[in-house]
Parts: sequence; structure tokens; C-alpha cells
Amino acid sequence: MHPETKLVHGTVAPVDRATIHPYEDGTPGRFHYQRYAHPVGAEAERLLSELEGGESLLFPSGMAATTSLLLALLRPGASVAVADGGYFGTVGMMRQELVRWGLEVTTFDQTAPPPPADLVWLEPCANPFLTFPDLDAAVERAHAAGSLVVVDNTVLSPLLLRPLDHGADLVLHSATKILAGHHDALLGVVTCADPAAAARLGEFRKASGIVAAPDPAWLLLRGLKTLSLRVERQSATALELARRLAEHPAVRCVRYPGLGDPVAARYVRAFGPLLSFDVADAERALRVELALRLIENATSLGGVASTLEGRARWEPERVPPGLLRLSVGLEDVDDLWADLSQALEA
Ligand SMILES: Cc1ncc(COP(=O)(O)O)c(C=O)c1O
Repeated sequence: MHPETKLVHGTVAPVDRATIHPYEDGTPGRFHYQRYAHPVGAEAERLLSELEGGESLLFPSGMAATTSLLLALLRPGASVAVADGGYFGTVGMMRQELVRWGLEVTTFDQTAPPPPADLVWLEPCANPFLTFPDLDAAVERAHAAGSLVVVDNTVLSPLLLRPLDHGADLVLHSATKILAGHHDALLGVVTCADPAAAARLGEFRKASGIVAAPDPAWLLLRGLKTLSLRVERQSATALELARRLAEHPAVRCVRYPGLGDPVAARYVRAFGPLLSFDVADAERALRVELALRLIENATSLGGVASTLEGRARWEPERVPPGLLRLSVGLEDVDDLWADLSQALEA
């Protein structure tokens, strides 16, 4: 079966909120206590495992997934090399929290080979700089140096890219984004190529209690049913808007791998919902935000409703003051363009 078929196959799982299920003949079953496992989470994990081609574990947020992965699979004093155009919270958490546990953190340009480290962290269609690594070459180099490779696949989803097929060891998702897809569920996922790593992470999750609840897991299952349609449409609209933005006189530059990134084109046939573009300065960026009528001036990405924000409010040291990040939803492309162009002219 194709992934599109797997995603919609089957009846709707009930939202089982029970924290306990009775023992059978004195023997605790798989779902005897919700911290260990629960039926809705297990069903979501089954589906995500098939999609990514590994063993998936659900977490209560993308950051919970990142934290758990690092604490469960690394040791104090380990080194991590993180792609520098990617989600600021990933490297931010490592530097703010895990340095106290001895983690050594460096960043590197993921369009070049990764430096030696215990763990290499890649992010294709990096949020918000939209860089794209040469995955096969990066994995080969990292493995030759004895590094594990994690790919944050949040922006593309397994329908566009399956990093484990390219030799990555682990895939991470903020499932809050395009997987759940409706801006109503906070979740994360780690998929492991090695069953031993999945078992280790599962033990860590049970012990730490960093466990996703059944309700968001159910919303994820609901969202996944339409993932293929959403990914196709959002990617097509994002490409068209990126092209139109690139022609607009108020736009200094547009970042979208679909605008001719030759490396990205070797790995994916569509480029996801996320793009960023620069206007002249912070004042201009704020004017665009305030003039929007249709697109939500809000954070996050991958939802059915388009969102736009100036990223310098969150990461002023790294991001140009005029950088606007746009996540393209399911609205009509011309309605989105009408809103963007009137806001750019405001
Ligand atoms: C690429 C990427 N990875 C990870 C995360 C963290 O996910 P969450 O917000 O679900 O904790 C985000 C959130 O914005 C993200 O954009």
C-alpha cells in the first residue's frame, strides 16, 4: 500500500483516556498504566513507524522529544553539532539547559560537511533559513567519524522525505506542525532506525514520565488522515507565493528550496509549507504584520491556516530585522497573494 492509503485506512480509534486497564489473570497487559503505554498513542506510533520506516515514539511536544532523545541516547560530556539555520529552540535548549549536564554544543553550516561530534543534528528546509543539507554525503561523513545522525523532519513530513532511507539514525518531528496540521495539538515524535535505540528511549520515557496524553494523540491520528492532501496543496501554494514574492519590489530576498536549490531537488519533489523573505527593516516588517487581514499574525507552522511573523522578535541575534517567516496553509493562493501584496504595500 502507498503511504497515502495507509494514512486513511481503518476505522476511527476511540479516545481511551483510562490511566489503568485491569490485569488479565493477574498479568499486567500492555496498557495496564498510561505512563507505560496507551492505545491511542500506540496506534499513532504504529502509523508513524510505517511512514518513517523505523520505530516511532510519541512525546508531549517536539522539545520533549528532543530533550528525551539527548538525555536517553547520549552521555554527560557528549558533543553535538547542530545545523545553524534551524529551529532556535533546539540549540537554545541544549545551550541553556544541557550544558549543565556537560553537553558540548557547536553549530555548523549544514550545506557543508558536518564536523566531528557524537551526534550530528540536521534540519532540511531549516526553520527559518530554509537551508538544505546534502543528506547522503552528510550521513556518510558523520558515520565515518562515528557520529549518530538525527534529522529534524518537521517541515517536510515523511511523505516528502524519509531520512532513514538515506542512512540517518534518528528522525525527529514537532508533530505540532504539519503532522497534526490544525494548530490544536502539541506533540513530538522520534523515529529510530535501531530497535535498541527505540527500546532505550522507551525505557527513558517510562521512567521520566515524558509521555504524550491520549487527547492530542487522537488529534494527531485525525490530522494524519488528510496529511497527503495538505502536504501537496500547501507545498504547491508555497512555491507559487515564493515565486510571486521574489518578483515584488518590497522584497529583498526569498528563501525557499523550491526556487532552484539543486541539492534539495535531488531529495524531494515538493518543498513543504515554509518559506521566509526579507523586507527592508524591522519597522517595515512590523507594518506588514499589522496590515494582514487574512493570514494570521502568529507563530508556528504547518497548520491549515497560514501564519506569518517577524522572527527577529524571538531570535534578534541571528535573524535579519526584516525577516518574515510564512507558513502557507490551505487558503486559495490568490486570496493569500492579495493579502500579502496589500500588506507589503501598506
Ligand atoms: C523544526 C522544529 N523542530 C522542533 C520544534 C519544537 O517543537 P514543539 O514546539 O512541538 O516543542 C519546532 C517548533 O517550532 C520546529 O519548528
